[in-house]
Amino acid sequence: MTSLPVPFTVAIDGPAAAGKGTIARAVAERFDLGHLDTGLLYRAVGRKTLAGMAALEAARSLSEDDLNPEDALRTAPVAEAASRVAVDTEVRAALVDFQRAFARRSGGAVLDGRDIGTVICPRAEVKLFVIADPEVRARRRYQELAGKGQDVTLEGVAEDLARRDARDAERADAPMVAADDAVVLDTSAMSIEDAVAQAIARVQSVLQP
Ligand code: CDP
Repeated sequence: MTSLPVPFTVAIDGPAAAGKGTIARAVAERFDLGHLDTGLLYRAVGRKTLAGMAALEAARSLSEDDLNPEDALRTAPVAEAASRVAVDTEVRAALVDFQRAFARRSGGAVLDGRDIGTVICPRAEVKLFVIADPEVRARRRYQELAGKGQDVTLEGVAEDLARRDARDAERADAPMVAADDAVVLDTSAMSIEDAVAQAIARVQSVLQP
């Protein structure tokens, strides 16, 4: 087993439904790292706003319990609410410490989101920016949500992703953008196994140059 430089952080960013989560989970498992899906934090805040709470209050009072059950966070309305609260600088600031503390955990960590390699962990040892064509991403997300019995259409999902990507990329604070030193992984024509293998190879090459 390769010993990790401490702390060792893998930052995985990219647009909606590009495959970040699957890749992040697989990399974490392969190298025995902790994994934080930072999108869940924004989704949890967004979900609370749908229930009537102010976004900043929701962000400041967020607890582990709010991240469960995960299925309640993985819906189209909650994703939309998440991207709306994510433009708020104070909301983002309220979530920074938790993410940075997780990134520094002793066993090493993988974080996935939009601003991990640029804002949260600009000195991460490995940075990946995962992308895929919009049609491919829409199909993947449609299959995921429809497979859970959610009432969605392919066209609706495609519109939701496009609107969210635009909002995430154009916001003033921590916009979604690849860090200068990120490796871009285009998963459009890749199986998930290939995408995971490439991500693992990248981590391995940093550990054993
Ligand atoms: O799963 P998907 O890629 O569709 O979205 P997510 O990663 O769960 O993120 C949901 C929303 O949270 C995004 O559209 C962003 O607006 C926001 N987000 C963010 O601003 N910064 C992050 N580090 C992670 C998510």
